Amino acid sequence: ATTLGAAAAGSGRYFGTAVSLSKLGDSTYSTILDREFNMITAENEMKWDTIEPSRGSFNFAPADSIVSHASAHGQRMRGHTLVWHSQLPSWVSSITDADTLRSVMNNHITTAMTHYKGKIYAWDVVNEAFADGSTQLRSSVFENVLGNGFVEEAFRTARNADPSATLCYNDYNIENWFDAKTQGVYSMVKDFKSRGVPIDCVGFQSHFGTSGPPASFQTTLSNFAALGVDVQITELDIAEASTTAYTDTVRACLNVARCTGITVWGIRDSDSWRTGENPLLFDNSGNKKPAYGAVLTAL
Ligand code: XIL
Repeated sequence: ATTLGAAAAGSGRYFGTAVSLSKLGDSTYSTILDREFNMITAENEMKWDTIEPSRGSFNFAPADSIVSHASAHGQRMRGHTLVWHSQLPSWVSSITDADTLRSVMNNHITTAMTHYKGKIYAWDVVNEAFADGSTQLRSSVFENVLGNGFVEEAFRTARNADPSATLCYNDYNIENWFDAKTQGVYSMVKDFKSRGVPIDCVGFQSHFGTSGPPASFQTTLSNFAALGVDVQITELDIAEASTTAYTDTVRACLNVARCTGITVWGIRDSDSWRTGENPLLFDNSGNKKPAYGAVLTAL
């Protein structure tokens, strides 16, 4: 295969990227997007501050434009993200009453998932709920007002809203099997599976430093998969785009049957949120970097 998407499809996987609506009119950007990628995550346009900026008033237009681009180019969509402490409007973070927050959270999930029903392959239902260096949930308005049960509630609501979407828990710093945070998420998923709480997938953001994935990354992916969930690499970028580090990351996924796909967090280095770290597969002019070749070969 000669493109990332086709190479990944050769083993039944997808290869995706984060997309910013503001760049779709840039033909260098959209040419690479439509040539190489068969899965899209909206980089910001499906986050709470964009889609429900004030209570009950939904703004789907920016994300709708990305979804129609995807549909016109045969690309699937990951939905990112429904419940997250960040990019959360202050009208939500200032809620102190549990019944109000529960109803607001469930309405947000149900309205967004209903709007996109049948158009989103996988949703990041809850993003980054665990605290770094800990097995516990982080402090957030959801945790503080609703308690630990908010994660389960969110997944149950999501399943009812779109029963055919793959429901994911997504986080960073859960790639190393020996980190407390990884163990915390693993225990939650194990508990959810044992009690029938609807969870289908765990997303590993995989924002790596120059040394790339931890040595245990494949072990982590396969241990989670053994719980009966898909695993996905959802926001991959690697400081300075080391070819070895990209190769190791792709191999870890390919060696795990239930690792269903890889998404990089942007196209060109100039599109990256990690300014100055050159972590992506294309340079600022849209040329393929050595890491691109390494990934294509490894797929
Ligand atoms: C980032 C976007 O790339 C930036 O444009 C935005 O300013 C902040 O968010 N974890 C996530 C992503 O789940 O949504 C974040 O995306 C990167 C970290």
